[in-house]
Amino acid sequence: MDWGLQNRLNRMFSIASHNSVMLAVDHGYFMGPTRHLENARATIAPLLPHADALALTRGILRHAVEPTTSTPIVLRVSGGATILKDDLSHEALTTSMEDAVRLNVSAVAMSVFVGAPHEHESLIHLAQLVDQGEEYGVPVMAITAVGKELEKRDARYLALACRVSAELGAHLVKTYYCEDFGKVVEGCPVPLVVAGGPKLDSDRAALDLARNAIDEGAHGIDMGRNIWQSDHPVAMLKALRAIVHDKATVREALDLLEAEKAHPSPRASAATA
Ligand code: 5RP
Repeated sequence: MDWGLQNRLNRMFSIASHNSVMLAVDHGYFMGPTRHLENARATIAPLLPHADALALTRGILRHAVEPTTSTPIVLRVSGGATILKDDLSHEALTTSMEDAVRLNVSAVAMSVFVGAPHEHESLIHLAQLVDQGEEYGVPVMAITAVGKELEKRDARYLALACRVSAELGAHLVKTYYCEDFGKVVEGCPVPLVVAGGPKLDSDRAALDLARNAIDEGAHGIDMGRNIWQSDHPVAMLKALRAIVHDKATVREALDLLEAEKAHPSPRASAATA
């Protein structure tokens, strides 16, 4: 692996734990102003110091994040469909590698739609993006199973989607936790991070998900709604960090969450940041 590419990858992962806590705020590219992400700047600001990387589009990066940040950026570079259409798989590359380099990002990310109507295009786009990433030293993260494909979120499907992504050259893969997640890990030769999916019933459920994913071989999380749609987003992010980096049990993470709730970081204080 080229030095620059390896260096960018290393920025996002802890040297001690080999894991990463990525904060995903890229949902607006197909969902619009999702609940609690209407004002992206206000949502991101209090969370940013606690994230190992921030995943978003170039529009929100330029408008909602100060260029003084030292947090590594994972830039979503695919899009072209919205929740108003039945077929979310009709995506293409929406951002050039030159712009990604101009933005000094640590990785680029795109969705792959295995089994969906535009499977072929998304896989070819992934291969092309990897060619560009190798040329410029920028790691590529493949994102499996978004939108309607979520319904097929079992180990057999996710193992296929993750392996295909790695075979096409993805340097890391974002996927979903599922029963028998170890089989997904086993078949994927590059690091996996897990998304949280739609907001779960409780903070505890999201902590359980993270604990199980790490125990079964994930190298971290790339989580959005279960953090910033929580009533206590900063506390939640800190509790997730304890799980991902510090081997905390879910009980210990919940205790940390409760302690952090006693010293809340109000959402509103970020609006002016
Ligand atoms: C949206 C994405 C999200 O980044 C991913 O789903 C993680 O966010 P969440 O934890 O809310 O699912 O890829 O297309």
